[in-house]
Amino acid sequence: LRTAMEKLEATSQLQSRLSSLSFSSFPGITAKHGCTDGSVLMCTLASLIIYTFNISILSLLQMPPLNPPTTWTSAAVKELKAKLRTEKDSVVTVYRGDIMTVHVPTVPEATKVCWEFATDGYDIGFGIYFDWSPVTSRSITVHISESSDDEDEEEELEGPVSNGDVEKGSKTQTNSNLAEILPVYRQDSHLSVLAGSHDFPGEGTYLLKFDNSYSLWRNKTLYYRVYYSA
Ligand SMILES: *[C@@H]1O[C@H](CO)[C@@H](O)[C@H](O)[C@H]1NC(C)=O
Repeated sequence: LRTAMEKLEATSQLQSRLSSLSFSSFPGITAKHGCTDGSVLMCTLASLIIYTFNISILSLLQMPPLNPPTTWTSAAVKELKAKLRTEKDSVVTVYRGDIMTVHVPTVPEATKVCWEFATDGYDIGFGIYFDWSPVTSRSITVHISESSDDEDEEEELEGPVSNGDVEKGSKTQTNSNLAEILPVYRQDSHLSVLAGSHDFPGEGTYLLKFDNSYSLWRNKTLYYRVYYSA
């Protein structure tokens, strides 16, 4: 609630700053803003244009467009799997109907996020989203949403990818700060390693989605690694 209120406050501050900006850049309109010269229609129209202008600038400032990620594939599936088997929490099962989301906050020491993954036997859906909400935690967390469960229960594994205290998470909430970088597509991660990177667009949290929600029966064994790069 507090962050929501802070955000609201910041938004209204920005809005008032923007409206003063646009009014001062249209002195003619400012002069007629009192609507004393009888052209009420013109005045209303001008106000409406300024209002629309403010709103569009505001949303642009809040959520600038995101660049697509750089992606590549590698034939070194066996090598990656062998390496990740030796690392803690790098091999996981994404059960049938489930979506595993890795939350990766931006950090000041790095400029981009990188990932690589592969699966055993079958494909998996993969997509990337960016949450522009201010970063409150430095840890990379893993969230499982069980679509097969009516309650949409969410489980949270706290800590960096290579660290696994289990903690009960909060319920998923709709978030208007969420922007799409790469929509979820099924990837042939059982045939080659899927890898990629994305330059931080600003402060926020990446959501890397490994989506097995389309699978009625098959659990997927996922080998994955997420890391930062300068
Ligand atoms: C997938 O995992 C669930 C839960 O552990 C299990 O009940 C089910 O039998 C598994 N499905 C397959 C096809 O192995």
